[in-house]
Amino acid sequence: MKVGVFCPIGNNGWLLSKTAPQYKPSFELNKEIVQLAEHYGFDFALSMIKLRGFGGETEFWDYNLETFTLMAGLAAVTSKIQIYATAATLVMPPAIVARMASTIDSISNGRFGLNVVTGWQKPEYSQMGMWPGDEYFGKRYQYLSEYVQVLRDLWASGHSDFKGEFFKMDDCQVKPIPQADMKIICAGQSDEGLAFSAKYADYNFVFGKGLNTPTAYAGINDRLKAQTDKTGRDVSTYVLFMVIADDSDEKALAKWQCYNDGADMDAIHWLQDQGAKDTKSGSDTNIRHMASSVSPVNINMGTLVGSYQKVAAMLDEIAEVKGTDGILLTFDDFVQGVEDFGTKIQPLMKSRIDVDSPIPSQVANLEKSA
Ligand SMILES: Cc1cc2nc3c(=O)[nH]c(=O)nc-3n(C[C@H](O)[C@H](O)[C@H](O)COP(=O)(O)O)c2cc1C
Repeated sequence: MKVGVFCPIGNNGWLLSKTAPQYKPSFELNKEIVQLAEHYGFDFALSMIKLRGFGGETEFWDYNLETFTLMAGLAAVTSKIQIYATAATLVMPPAIVARMASTIDSISNGRFGLNVVTGWQKPEYSQMGMWPGDEYFGKRYQYLSEYVQVLRDLWASGHSDFKGEFFKMDDCQVKPIPQADMKIICAGQSDEGLAFSAKYADYNFVFGKGLNTPTAYAGINDRLKAQTDKTGRDVSTYVLFMVIADDSDEKALAKWQCYNDGADMDAIHWLQDQGAKDTKSGSDTNIRHMASSVSPVNINMGTLVGSYQKVAAMLDEIAEVKGTDGILLTFDDFVQGVEDFGTKIQPLMKSRIDVDSPIPSQVANLEKSA
């Protein structure tokens, strides 16, 4: 099973809590995390794009770096790990994104790929006067379908004359074309999103569900399979989880309880309000389930809490779910979390038996050698 780290590109990672570790995003922090991840054999690092935060006492995600520029920097200080940035497709024309991707392909020597998102939180775009109107909620994946067709044209031949409802290319040229076969990630959970992935994406990322219920998300693999049966393409699932681990179950659960006790309810309410605004897309979107969510303190993300051994066993359970090829991990403390994953969790995982267990890192030494 492949393993990736979801770079903390926004402040406080994925915990909307006053009692979780408080930090701002920086290149140095992300460099430390991704170099450490590479050291422990992580397969990929992905960063999201977020253009407006949720506020509250913790100013959640009010501080966010920009994903392409961050990942270009990380590409330059790594050598093996795959690097993914996220295109905010509503505000970034595909010909510009194709060129940025070719540039990072060059910096990384063929290790770059792209996550494409439709956008779901109106204020991210309306604050710049770039929200196309609420009817967009119902057309998001039609728009994205045209967008990736332009990208694929440009990456394949350096040229596009695509004509659609949203994009009209006119002898558009983007060269050099990337050296690598550019992989596309989509994180669709709705029927429209899954149908898009089945047709155009290489990987579909999904939200893990619940607390210590590692396989509760499995139904979405069946929904994706129903779509890929129609397109005949091979698209695998990667599932997102937060890991909170310690020497014992009790210690790990105490941390989780503490983060919940300090939940930043103002930021959570903003998120719940925003999630409820999309009434036009199909069903089963995690964002719209926020109002009834199990753990809003981490955006209703699937959460694995326990001893290193228990977390390793749960990760192995995920690896057994048909259609799942990988996991994307977040941590409460990313530097410690990646180190603990590399030294204490991964060596216990059957699904990572093929990964060499490197000696525990001296983070400072890694930085010096970069
Ligand atoms: C791993 C992962 C990364 C995501 N990254 C972003 C992002 O950077 N920006 C964004 O607006 N939405 C992001 N999303 C939300 C998805 O693009 C998608 O809109 C959401 O999962 C709901 O699915 P739906 O679009 O099919 O309704 C992400 C979701 C996941 C699971």
